[in-house]
Amino acid sequence: MDSATCVAMGGDRNRRSLAMLYGPATGLTTPEDPMSHLSETIDANPSLGTHERNEIGRLLQAQLVDLIDLSLIGKQAHWNIAGPNFHPLHLQLDEFIEQWRDLSDDVAERAVALGIAPDGQAGAVAAQSEVEGFPVAQIADAEVVIGFAHRLSQAVYRARERMDRLDELDLASQDLIIEVVRVLEKQLWMFRVQG
Ligand SMILES: [Fe+2]
Repeated sequence: MDSATCVAMGGDRNRRSLAMLYGPATGLTTPEDPMSHLSETIDANPSLGTHERNEIGRLLQAQLVDLIDLSLIGKQAHWNIAGPNFHPLHLQLDEFIEQWRDLSDDVAERAVALGIAPDGQAGAVAAQSEVEGFPVAQIADAEVVIGFAHRLSQAVYRARERMDRLDELDLASQDLIIEVVRVLEKQLWMFRVQG
């Protein structure tokens, strides 16, 4: 099925479900028990076809594990950094970790809003993340700066690919990934100028 057909089918489902919840568009009547249809409506997410939702879910899941893993390696570096710039980088990493965690929460909740269950558990992150880890050892402050500039530039590349793909699928999800790209690119700039 092509994406245009998918969109058309999603639109039909949308109109049917809105009619179930709020009554026919031409009248003021409501069903006797509008809540009786709510779970079906949430499960089906009437605005999107199944194959679009699955593709959006795949993109959001990939973004989710990238963000969670960035927050994990951020803590790893926060603890193990050593050198003259220990203190500012130690604090900067915690600031960025909070941003990665906030974004991961937004991405996961966007998936749930579409009826897709996100997986942010350790097993999923280990199996799916494309973020490179750090060695389990002290990391020199200069290596932290270079290492995060490298990892963030790769993460930005992947996020931009998702952003472009979502242009055809779901602008609301794309809007969120645009925010992810904006934050990651700002962080990348802040590491690059320290290198
Ligand atoms: Fe700490």
